[in-house]
Amino acid sequence: MPKVTFIDPEGGTTVVEVSAGSDDLLEIAEEHGVKMGSACGGVCACSSCHCYIREGADSLDEMDDKEADRLDMGFDVRPNSRLGCQTIVRARDLVVEISKESIDVWYNEHPERRSERAG
Ligand code: FES
Repeated sequence: MPKVTFIDPEGGTTVVEVSAGSDDLLEIAEEHGVKMGSACGGVCACSSCHCYIREGADSLDEMDDKEADRLDMGFDVRPNSRLGCQTIVRARDLVVEISKESIDVWYNEHPERRSERAG
């Protein structure tokens, strides 16, 4: 089973084992308490699940036009940017950095947790 390592902008790291080819990164993040924003609920209509694939990107399906169009709305988009809700984990391990944009949205979605935010 592949492992996904989530790194958040606050320095936290979460490592989870997942089934290849089933869940997307947003579903995995939500299932394991990782702070990834999801303003549109995971239907590729925002960019709040924006993340960076640090390792393992070559195992992923190619980005389609819809995802690319949505990422164009994002902040600090990089060559390794993906939308978590559009990225299915395949056979290889991934290291995924949550974008600042994404964690900001997550805290907006969870105002009761803002007091624990670092900095
Ligand atoms: Fe909106 Fe992924 S949650 S595009």
